[in-house]
Amino acid sequence: MEKLIITGPTPLKGEVTINGAKNAAVAILPATLLIDGICTIDNLPNISDVQLSCKILEKLGAKITWNNKNSITIDTRNITTYKAPLDLTSKFRASYYILGSMLSRNGEIEVGMPGGCKLGARPIDQHIKGFESLGAKVTVGNGTIYAKAKKLTGTSIYMDIVSVGATINVMLAAVLANGTTTIENAAKEPHIVDVANFLNTMGADIRGAGTDVIKINGVKKLHGNTTYSVVPDQIEAGTFMLAAVATKGDILIKNCITKHLESITAKIVEIGGTVEDYGDSLRVSCKKRPTKANIKTLPYPGFPTDLQPQMGVALSLAEGTSIINEGIWESRFQYTEELIKMGAKITAHGKTAIFEGVDKLSGAPVYSTDLRAGAALIIAGTAATGTTEVYNLEHIDRGYENIEEKFRNLGAKIERVNE
Ligand code: UD1
Repeated sequence: MEKLIITGPTPLKGEVTINGAKNAAVAILPATLLIDGICTIDNLPNISDVQLSCKILEKLGAKITWNNKNSITIDTRNITTYKAPLDLTSKFRASYYILGSMLSRNGEIEVGMPGGCKLGARPIDQHIKGFESLGAKVTVGNGTIYAKAKKLTGTSIYMDIVSVGATINVMLAAVLANGTTTIENAAKEPHIVDVANFLNTMGADIRGAGTDVIKINGVKKLHGNTTYSVVPDQIEAGTFMLAAVATKGDILIKNCITKHLESITAKIVEIGGTVEDYGDSLRVSCKKRPTKANIKTLPYPGFPTDLQPQMGVALSLAEGTSIINEGIWESRFQYTEELIKMGAKITAHGKTAIFEGVDKLSGAPVYSTDLRAGAALIIAGTAATGTTEVYNLEHIDRGYENIEEKFRNLGAKIERVNE
């Protein structure tokens, strides 16, 4: 079993370069199934969710060539089956994007019930509602989802809740449909815009991505022979911004889109950090102990739920008492039990947690309960006095490329060992 051993406290200092966005990459890869051709995707993060996505595509018949560790060329001309491997698709959440893409391309698809981080109930009713509105029949049972459509016809779909996954999935299904599809109450996250940009580069006609109304005019086919570069990862950038604050460090975060980070920047400034904005990079520093703040996580452009645990570490160490209200997921405070082992004073009830700031954390053995919780524990271990051992690294490796190397380059004393 692998674990990270971190000895702190270390104020993180130096430069870090952000990789391509996980949540965009895991949607763009299935979106290549809409193309009857070859395309190249650059700035792909080299993480286990991307490797898994590639394996699923290969099982469906795609040919993938790795140009380097962050670039692939993918040939989707010979998709040979409609059955996505159940064992692989049920391992992670984003495998549901195969549904939208293959429904559009093939009119029939079966995938395993999507897995992913355990953040509470993760229904997919809005995805199904969208597919059915377009004319598909969807059957859920025996751990699989099966969708079939003779033809898909554009229509107007109002999302009952703002869902990143459902917005992208319906967009994928609608690209080759007859006529125009309108998604109302759409999610606006940067990776939704990125998936739309990718599809438009390949010949789709999608307008309004990034607003709450997206219009998709169905086209006959998408062409390949194009190279697309994945948008920088907003959540990875935010993770390092909060690492700078929690460790009282000074980090230059390169290759990010600072506009995507405004809600995080605002909160960092509120708690006493400094953020210098250079457009495609940010310098974040915090010379003294941060101060308390209240946070509510919301869909973009609100404060992202995927940075809530990392912010929880900074607030654990802040002066005063802070409240975090989780607005998206039911069980996103499991990490607080691990922080309590390190000396944090947190009371979590349902979707609210109260952080009574302490002036130091102490190293302890801790367990990643999900991907972002794992990143938060690495930050906590770097800020804490003594030795922290972080277990369950498979969660962290799903979404961060070379995380310990990046922390080490910023001065952290961190090592991955195999027990
Ligand atoms: C995506 C991200 C995840 C992030 C989340 C919210 C990916 C691969 N994952 O997850 O990291 O935490 O957005 O920013 O991009 N819901 C329903 N019915 C549905 C779909 C969702 O009720 O059909 C609910 C969910 O339970 C949740 C909320 O809507 O409470 C938001 O979920 P959604 O935006 O769909 O999250 P994901 O796309 O799964």
